[in-house]
Amino acid sequence: MAQKKIILTGDRPTGRLHLGHYVGSLKRRVQLQNSGIYDEINILIADDQALTDNADNPGKIRDNIVNIVLDYLSVGIDPAKSTICVQSALPALHALTFYYMNLVTTARLSRNPTVKAEMQMRGFADEGLPAGFFSYPVSQAADITAFNATVVPVGEDQLPMIEQTREIVEKFNRTYGETLVLPNAMIPENVTQRRLPGVDGKAKMSKSLGNCIYISDDLKTIKKQVNGKMFTDPTHLRIEDPGHTEGNVVFTYLDAFCTDGHFAQFLPEYANLEEMKEHYRRGGLGDGTCKKFLISVLDSELAPIREERAKWEADIDSVYDILKEGTARAVEKTNATLEKVRAAMRIDYFKDRSIVQDWKNLLG
Ligand code: TRP
Repeated sequence: MAQKKIILTGDRPTGRLHLGHYVGSLKRRVQLQNSGIYDEINILIADDQALTDNADNPGKIRDNIVNIVLDYLSVGIDPAKSTICVQSALPALHALTFYYMNLVTTARLSRNPTVKAEMQMRGFADEGLPAGFFSYPVSQAADITAFNATVVPVGEDQLPMIEQTREIVEKFNRTYGETLVLPNAMIPENVTQRRLPGVDGKAKMSKSLGNCIYISDDLKTIKKQVNGKMFTDPTHLRIEDPGHTEGNVVFTYLDAFCTDGHFAQFLPEYANLEEMKEHYRRGGLGDGTCKKFLISVLDSELAPIREERAKWEADIDSVYDILKEGTARAVEKTNATLEKVRAAMRIDYFKDRSIVQDWKNLLG
């Protein structure tokens, strides 16, 4: 039988999802879901992983689960095609994590560049590092392998996690026999979509910096963020001055979002972004016009998502049922993998009584 094509991806429920998530991952998940190429799509709400650096605030995680599911449903994740599930309700993941811990050294974990960067950001270097946080890449390997994922669509920052997972899979299969499926990462092709900067030009959108546009934001908020905070070209003082489009956040966002259709609809003096950029570089195109265009582009993308969200917000009981049913399916899938793993490790003592005969033989 040909290997099934299985997708697993996930998010930590620490806040609403923003435009960085949208271009970097959500939009593509919907395309993958509707492509008909994949046998299974699984989307994991990684609440256990979120707890590794929020142990003192489980309420935040609990509250944001609904935000994440609403974001999924409003962008077009279809629960009939994709399994949406909650990590903490999948006990197989905890068991797998525990076994995989023995296949990774602490030295290897300390070299994981994503964990290193996050440690810095969270101040763990000074305060002391929670062991759970330190080893979350192992739990992520459990997530991925438990679903037998062949493809893991993620942002660029997650590549070290997939690399670490592949090493664990190889080690497991070498040690206990061919059992686990080796996954591949899938990252966005468009470079600006891989890492959308914050509206202030900082490398990443982050809630604490206040430089995000959330996919659920209304037009007023989009305008406030773009007009009030978005970084352009500091040398472009008068409209007539030549301007730079590189490193100009308005153009970075246009690179990530606008299509020729948006020009026809909102700014017909240009056929495409290249023509608009040329005018900006020559001089004579003001930042106000560029921002106004960007606001129209973003709002035309987000308005239908907002409408969809409003419908689901009015029906939270259904949202709960979707999550409960998806999680029940995921329990089955992940338990099946755990059974295979325990069998490969020969620690499935109570599956049948075969060990009784082994013990008898041993004791003569
Ligand atoms: N670490 C991912 C993030 O921070 C979230 C995540 C958890 C995930 N488990 C996963 C992503 C499994 C892909 C596959 O975005």
